[in-house]
Amino acid sequence: MRRALLVLVLAIAAIGVFAAGLATLLDTPGPPRGASRGERLFYGLCVTCHGTDGRGSWRAALFLIRPGNLADGARLGARSDQYLFEIIKHGGAPIGRPGMPAFGAALSDDELRELVAYVRSLSRAR
Ligand code: HEC
Repeated sequence: MRRALLVLVLAIAAIGVFAAGLATLLDTPGPPRGASRGERLFYGLCVTCHGTDGRGSWRAALFLIRPGNLADGARLGARSDQYLFEIIKHGGAPIGRPGMPAFGAALSDDELRELVAYVRSLSRAR
């Protein structure tokens, strides 16, 4: 009887350690201290697919999502602020690029503009 209880407790502890390990491993990183609002939004909403550096995350690759490279200066240089704003607000679907979700329902235009500014900063030399 005692032994069964011990086994049970150990099993529960093992599951706990495993779950905590998994959570740590899969958690997306938080924004650095003193991050701007745009950067905090990016870490909160975008890094799961785009990665912290904008080059695309392994999670996205795992699900065969190809978010492109937001740190590519030539690519971003060819995009207008208006284009970036629209694709973040309405998603890629209206322009035939359905991989990119829409955030217009969740974010104000001000927040969207700050995200655009942050996305631009990813392709600038750092
Ligand atoms: C579910 C995954 C996912 C999330 C979350 C996501 N994106 Fe995207 N994003 C994509 C994919 C996939 C594309 C590429 C679509 C295509 O080219 O077909 C994309 C494209 C873009 C583009 C256009 C790049 C270009 O060169 O045209 C911008 C800008 C962008 N995302 C910004 C953001 C921002 C900012 C956020 C957070 C608010 C965000 N994304 C969240 C998947 C995602």
